[in-house]
Amino acid sequence: MDIKKEIRDLRELLKKYSESYYNENESLISDYEYDKLLEKLNELEKANPECMDLFSPTMSVGASVRENKFKKVEHEHPMLSLANSYNTGEIVDFIERIKKRISEKKELKYCLEVKLDGLSISLTYRQGKLIKAVTRGDGFVGEDVTENIMQIESVMKILSEPIDIEIRGEVVLPLVNFEKLNKERLEKGEEVFANPRNAASGTLRQLDSNIVRERGLDAYFYFLVEAEKLGLHSHSESIKYLESLGIKTTGIFEVLENSKEIENRIEYWGKERENLPYETDGLVIKVDEIDLWEEIGYTSKTPRWAIAYKFPAHQVSTLLKGVTWQVGRTGKLTPVAELQEVELSGSKVKRASLHNINEIERKDIRIGDRVFIEKAAEIIPQVVKAIKEERVGTEKIIEEPTECPVCSHKLEREEGLVDIKCVNDECPAKIQGEIEYFVSRDALNIMGLGSKIVEKFIDLGYIKTVVDIFNLKNHRDDLEQIDKMGKKSIDNLLNSIESSKAREYDKVIYSLGIPFIGKVASKILAKNSKNIDKLMSMTFEELIQIEGIGEIAAKEIIEFFLKEKSQKIISGLKEQGLKFELSESKTEESINSNFSGKTFLFTGTLKHFTRDQIKEEIEKLGGKNLSAVSKNLDYLIVGEKAGSKLKKAQEIETIKILTEDEFIDLKDKI
Ligand code: IVH
Repeated sequence: MDIKKEIRDLRELLKKYSESYYNENESLISDYEYDKLLEKLNELEKANPECMDLFSPTMSVGASVRENKFKKVEHEHPMLSLANSYNTGEIVDFIERIKKRISEKKELKYCLEVKLDGLSISLTYRQGKLIKAVTRGDGFVGEDVTENIMQIESVMKILSEPIDIEIRGEVVLPLVNFEKLNKERLEKGEEVFANPRNAASGTLRQLDSNIVRERGLDAYFYFLVEAEKLGLHSHSESIKYLESLGIKTTGIFEVLENSKEIENRIEYWGKERENLPYETDGLVIKVDEIDLWEEIGYTSKTPRWAIAYKFPAHQVSTLLKGVTWQVGRTGKLTPVAELQEVELSGSKVKRASLHNINEIERKDIRIGDRVFIEKAAEIIPQVVKAIKEERVGTEKIIEEPTECPVCSHKLEREEGLVDIKCVNDECPAKIQGEIEYFVSRDALNIMGLGSKIVEKFIDLGYIKTVVDIFNLKNHRDDLEQIDKMGKKSIDNLLNSIESSKAREYDKVIYSLGIPFIGKVASKILAKNSKNIDKLMSMTFEELIQIEGIGEIAAKEIIEFFLKEKSQKIISGLKEQGLKFELSESKTEESINSNFSGKTFLFTGTLKHFTRDQIKEEIEKLGGKNLSAVSKNLDYLIVGEKAGSKLKKAQEIETIKILTEDEFIDLKDKI
């Protein structure tokens, strides 16, 4: 290709992305992809100096300031950006480069802090009073957003000392407020914001400053301009000074001595970032000694004494190639996005959830769209939104299916409800789901029946209903023929099936998979019915008399037991000797006795739960989730690499500290 044209095209593309990012509050591409393109342009320009252009995106910080509603203001000190790095090797290089630039050879200190993913802001105080708030803009000229900033509660309007200072920080929309805002927008049929950064930027640009207050913007500060003029010698000291004036910081400023220490903290924050109340896209590492900054120097866009370490992106864009429909245990169909493979949060992704048809329609997502996908607290990636600006006109509307993709049975959708369902009881996908649920940890806890094996057994005709699991022992010889099923694993599987017969009555109720009947409801039903015959004969009125059983659950219970298939399964399981009555010792045991009303918090990386799952688990058991360690906390559940929360909890005697496994044991005993 013609190099000049390639450079021109790249510049245009980057300008478009950057204008959209800074002016329209829309990210059309992830930071990582943007940096890769910018790097490519930089290389091409270096190799072809005759093509250099002062207005190239490689030369400027942000977007040009759009002529619009906010007054333009020139920055007294330019607002610089940061160079990015994506691996720890680049941090080692950064340190080496710095060491070469300073004449006095001495060990340096580095201040490591979180990189907030919002928009930068500069505040000017005169005599301790906030007089001006300006966005970054192109780094030289920004927009005057003083009125809107005044609406942010945590921004100090008057400092504790009557001084003249300029500070830099980040305006963010806290995660809880972001989720609330998007939920409201979705309900009102409005376009959702792709991420908290775009939402913060869109909010700060509102002409009506009441909206800023309503949506709950927040701001954290991380820089004091010309700190040396106030007699401060280190960045960390300058942050303490800001805090002493009442200015809000993240409180995360760690002074470290070498690249090894930095590497350790990168690993720690890579996980702990999930527990912060705001979105972060990386860490910032700054040489702590302010007195060395001039000597280390600057490029046209960035200081050489600081660098950003970017976390693997939580959100990336990719092509939506098609949609498949997955059939679950209850027959519910879930649309799954088939994507062009991309890397997301450090792993390769080619499928993501689209939730349901209503959500697809509301978000107007089409096949052929470029979409944003993200992995937030959930393990399964989600499609966030379509990038409509990139449409070329050939995108196809996603049609609601009329036939089950697995068994071709006609589908049903109840009037006014969103779920589309396959109602064929013999649908192999439903059977697979039922079996997987039946053997899961909270149900009969049968080990060795993973989804691949279950699929195989269904294919081979060994399993048609859950009762057949107990007849697998009669197929011992056939099982040995199945690849990867050694003698040992067959023994383990058959033993586990036998011991599941000792599972308590409430677990058996749970394993039946009655819609709306989870763990707690199963316990309540077990306690109140004492045995399955009684439970099956209970009327709607009797069921709703039971505390904890509502009308929807009662209706589902009645419908479930009326089905011939359920009756057959229950009699089959009875014949196999499963426990269909309450054990003597359990009769008087109270429901939820251990966890009811107790408060919980978890910290570190958990092996068995996502953040949402454990919270849900705690609530289901009658407990309450807290967000910080305090005297009101009863239990701290500790995962791997637990940090400050654990330390704090150890100092309060009344807090019981549980490992994740201890928590699971305790919960299973209830
Ligand atoms: S320092 C000269 N510290 O990241 C100092 N920036 O990608 C430059 N940011 O423009 C900024 N958290 O908007 C700094 N702790 C932090 C930060 C931070 C977020 C933003 C800031 C900057 C951008 C560069």
